[in-house]
Amino acid sequence: TTVEWEAESYDMGGHDTYMHKEIHEQADAVDRALRGRIDDRFSTVHLGGLNLDARDARAVRRVKILGCGTSYHAGQIGAQMIEELARIPADAEPASEFRYRNPVVDPDTLYIAVSQSGETYDVLAAVQELKRKGARVLGLVNVVGSAIARETDGGIYVHAGPEVCVVSTKCFTNMVVSFGLLALHLGRTRDLSVADGKRIIAGLRKLPEQIAEILANEEEIEKLAGEYADAKSMMFIGRVRGYPVAREASLKLKEVSYIHAEAYPASELKHGPLALIEPAMPTVAIVPDDDLLEKNRAALEEIKARSGRILAVAHQVQEKADHTIVVPKNEDELDPILMGIPLQLLAYYTAKAMGRDIDKPRNLAKSVTVE
Ligand code: AGP
Repeated sequence: TTVEWEAESYDMGGHDTYMHKEIHEQADAVDRALRGRIDDRFSTVHLGGLNLDARDARAVRRVKILGCGTSYHAGQIGAQMIEELARIPADAEPASEFRYRNPVVDPDTLYIAVSQSGETYDVLAAVQELKRKGARVLGLVNVVGSAIARETDGGIYVHAGPEVCVVSTKCFTNMVVSFGLLALHLGRTRDLSVADGKRIIAGLRKLPEQIAEILANEEEIEKLAGEYADAKSMMFIGRVRGYPVAREASLKLKEVSYIHAEAYPASELKHGPLALIEPAMPTVAIVPDDDLLEKNRAALEEIKARSGRILAVAHQVQEKADHTIVVPKNEDELDPILMGIPLQLLAYYTAKAMGRDIDKPRNLAKSVTVE
């Protein structure tokens, strides 16, 4: 109930910051996002507030996801999940850009507004513009009863619980999990097989335990943060599923440590950013064990050949990397949910070593309710 949230959530519970507390709440938060939603009988999920019957779901020709900052990054992962599992063309765009470019609003497109607070003005304004043009808009929101939750035609509450730190962590994870649920739901109204539905459900169920496993590795990540805290600038790379993970990790580091960071698709390195690589510019590489593993390894070699330091987040130790944070493997489509979690801790420990105001980084507000 709301009262229980109030009592337990604003207590730091032995953690030095809300960021640290919220990172550690992620296994429980994900468990909450899954609870009561899985339907084993039909290998799908029930999303009560979606307000989209099977016929509506089948009529969707395209999905457009809108959000800002971290929520936009969650949307990028969500778009990939929807394309992969439901084979519906999907993409994400910053809501702040969308609303200013006179977008073509298509009645067969399903629009999804993503927001922790549900009050971000740019997202709300995009929703209102879409509604005015007759579009169907769903919300993927954390705060119950917030403006965006009220203005949308239906949606999914991500159930992360209250997030106090200005920097979003557990809410990002629950947003991505919620997109996984939505992608599974849309997929199962279309061509996703029962077997694949089962496979994704089994993967979702593994997440809380795997998150706990990653968080148990905290000491190692604290040490690594010491190794990289001298960097003036850091490069984050990933490919396809790993790219939005790299973008979010780069934003996290920037927000709390104020270290400059860039995120690039690994495939784009040779088209320019490789010029930046030198020992003073370490690279964090997302290297999942999927069909792009060899391609990602080739990027590590290119960086090593230019004397770049590499920290890999991978499912197995990467020879070319100076350090590897090994994370548990899930289904390929769900790997992005886990691979960013150690990098939240990396950002936290880097900022801590630098004495930053972790819960309230300079110049930032928890929710941007103005234009
Ligand atoms: C997250 O770490 C940021 N502080 C920020 O990018 C945030 O995600 C963005 O402002 C959107 O907020 P919302 O999810 O409440 O809409």
